[in-house]
Amino acid sequence: MLSAAAHIHSSDDARRLAKRRLPWMVFDYIDGSAGGEAGARRNRAAFEALTLEPRILRDVSSRNLSADVFGTTAQRPFGIAPMGMCNLSAPGADLMLARLAAEFSVPHGVSTVASTPLERIIEVAGGHAWFQLYFSGDGAGAFKLATRAKVAGYKTLVMTVDVPEVGRRPRELRHGFKMPFSIGPRQFVDFALHPRWSLSQLAAGKPDMANFDMDGFDFDRTESRARATWDTLSRLRDMWPGNLVVKGVLNVDDALALKGAGVDAIQVSSHGSRQLESAPAPIDALPLIRSAVGKDFPVFFDTGLRSGEDVLKAVRAGADFTFFGRSLLFAIAAGGEEGLRNLWDVFSEELSSALAQTGRVSVK
Ligand SMILES: Cc1cc2nc3c(=O)[nH]c(=O)nc-3n(C[C@H](O)[C@H](O)[C@H](O)COP(=O)(O)O)c2cc1C
Repeated sequence: MLSAAAHIHSSDDARRLAKRRLPWMVFDYIDGSAGGEAGARRNRAAFEALTLEPRILRDVSSRNLSADVFGTTAQRPFGIAPMGMCNLSAPGADLMLARLAAEFSVPHGVSTVASTPLERIIEVAGGHAWFQLYFSGDGAGAFKLATRAKVAGYKTLVMTVDVPEVGRRPRELRHGFKMPFSIGPRQFVDFALHPRWSLSQLAAGKPDMANFDMDGFDFDRTESRARATWDTLSRLRDMWPGNLVVKGVLNVDDALALKGAGVDAIQVSSHGSRQLESAPAPIDALPLIRSAVGKDFPVFFDTGLRSGEDVLKAVRAGADFTFFGRSLLFAIAAGGEEGLRNLWDVFSEELSSALAQTGRVSVK
């Protein structure tokens, strides 16, 4: 019998298979978007409306999927977006992603609320890990965490700025999802109906926010992050010697101000449509931001990428590099590390054939 991983031929397949295996609460935490989810639909509609023009009779037999990012060659023009609590998809998910990053030399975004300590992830990722920082409360914890990431050897810090308050995602709220994890009667029934997931999590131990088990590193996921300002950014710029990326930019003036503030790159993103429901589609904002900041300033992109063709569309719209989010977690939930590898290969093959069909040999 074929394993579930062998049935992944698209990101939709991964999502469908994951939906069967995951408790509803976990599926909705990963899949859910803000509010009534119009923002997610708007972005997908914008992606689907974009076309790529076929070009013919050019020799495209030798194709290269690599891309340059901060002076290193990533073997793919896409990496792994930072996501909190990845191990909810399956035990060991953070390290599956880290091994993938090491093998393809692509960035692995390590969330502030990762379910594996940041020191362990960068070790397994062979250095290809970027630390994602949330500011919260008075910011003291965030600066401590940035220092800790620096000591652990992180060279790139990604400050996420689109969560001044945690977005309301009704599907997640209905299930009573919260971190640290708590199990009431409702969750008990949900877990009992998904025994495969529940038994594997039971064997591995309850997933938790692994960067907060030591003194002075506390994090309340629901705490306001609203006190971050341009001054916070400038203090972060002063203390962070490596690359500083600001993630969650959708406005041209903000993009220009960030460039002026000395950040090394901006990431156009609506947090996977998980924050402001009424935000513009990131894929529509991307070309406007690219033309404002000029062709040489690094611009990254995430949100709503579901295929290799989408990656090519984002590159055409101005992205130097892109990131996949929830689809990777669905692949892991569906088929473990094999599932993740299969979906990664699917994305790679989709991109490779899209390049050939549009008469190109690389994304550069
Ligand atoms: C389950 C989940 C958790 C996330 N956690 C974080 C996080 O901790 N920090 C962050 O900057 N972005 C987080 N994101 C947003 C991703 O980094 C990224 O912006 C988004 O997932 C990309 O969109 P996509 O899922 O449609 O590919 C999370 C996304 C998901 C789906």
